[in-house]
Amino acid sequence: MSKDIALDDLNAVIRQHSEWLANQLHAQRENLFPPNAQKAIRKFTSGEAAALLGVNDSYLRKLHLDGKGPSPELTPGNRRLYSAQDIQDLRVLLEKTARKPGDYLPGRRDGDHMQIIGVMNFKGGSGKTTTAAHLAQRLALTGYRVLAIDLDPQASLTALHGVQPEFDLVDGGTLYDAIRYDDPDPISSIIRPTYFPNLDLIPGNLELMEFEHDTPRALAQGNAGLFFFRVKEALAQVDGDYDVVVIDCPPQLGFLTMSALSAATGVLVTIHPEMLDVMSMSQFLRMTADLMDVIAESGADMSHDWMRYLLTRYEPQDAPQNRIVAFLRTMYGDSVLNSTMLKSTAISDAGLTKQTLYEVERSAFTRSTYDRAIESLNAVNDEIAQLIQETWGRHDNQ
Ligand SMILES: Nc1ncnc2c1ncn2[C@@H]1O[C@H](COP(=O)(O)OP(=O)(O)OP(=O)(O)O)[C@@H](O)[C@H]1O
Ligand SMILES: [Mg+2]
Repeated sequence: MSKDIALDDLNAVIRQHSEWLANQLHAQRENLFPPNAQKAIRKFTSGEAAALLGVNDSYLRKLHLDGKGPSPELTPGNRRLYSAQDIQDLRVLLEKTARKPGDYLPGRRDGDHMQIIGVMNFKGGSGKTTTAAHLAQRLALTGYRVLAIDLDPQASLTALHGVQPEFDLVDGGTLYDAIRYDDPDPISSIIRPTYFPNLDLIPGNLELMEFEHDTPRALAQGNAGLFFFRVKEALAQVDGDYDVVVIDCPPQLGFLTMSALSAATGVLVTIHPEMLDVMSMSQFLRMTADLMDVIAESGADMSHDWMRYLLTRYEPQDAPQNRIVAFLRTMYGDSVLNSTMLKSTAISDAGLTKQTLYEVERSAFTRSTYDRAIESLNAVNDEIAQLIQETWGRHDNQ
């Protein structure tokens, strides 16, 4: 590549490097993922479908033989494959004859409030996006109506869901449109469906940074109102449409994260159990508490239903990590989720092709690698689902 730019002209160097990178990435993406290709979700084996529904495979087979419910695809070997929509249709069918209401459709009932879960930590790479994506998808696959929001200008959650932040969102379309101070759009205009039934997305891109710049200005001019309630107020417009909202926060404690924290009913702090991460977390917690005090002083209700720490990229065979995990559990007790998100090449490899573990085929990995990773993710997500149920006053899935 050319070296004709003088290094004292740093602007030009950076701009040129940005262009090279954008062009290369664009070319690579066109190869891997043609612009018009729609991301789709794979089919599920009858065993997977039965597990997601919480019934026996033999019961599903009986329904199929009796001609009840959706018709699964049959492989040449006569194995049944269910689409995510088939599973959702089965949920609706099974709920009609369920022993207890909510056995198959576990979402809100009359009087239950919408859960808004903020996934945060200002430590970059602590697993926020991976956690948010798998949580949102698992909740959707298990019958909750879910809205995932990418509040990070880096837009990783967006890319994971097949939306290209630089190309698909040139005319806006991020949450910024709904929380801006001048002439905000209705939030419904920026919500888009995904290829997962029950899962909608508000994508993100660099435009979200505008909120960080606008807020101090609006505060100085005295027209920011209660800036930290912008997200909460925008979400109130679609309160009836979702059971759970999952917000992937940026790795900083700016106005976007503060607004998510103020909107949240549940807070999930991801921690990679290594010394440097834990040290920076202490500052994160202190700054968060200070900021919440300031907000509370203005009379805002800053109460939350729950707050939990989630250990991410955990390697149980690593002795120093184990010491940190033990230390955190002793100090914080029940505030640390029992389940951990194990470090797995299955999760990072799936991420390379912009997929979650719920999207990739099991056959793409060594069985034991895939199974270990998915068991860990399911356990984490199901523990969070249990917290959601308890918030709605239901214990042990009653
Ligand atoms: N359990 C895991 N096993 C292996 N790799 C993981 C795991 N969780 C996350 N990763 C990888 O670690 C990297 C960082 O994860 P992720 O993007 O979720 O962190 P983040 O907190 O959202 O980062 P940022 O602060 O930049 O938004 C990614 O490459 C991801 O694929
Ligand atoms: Mg992230």
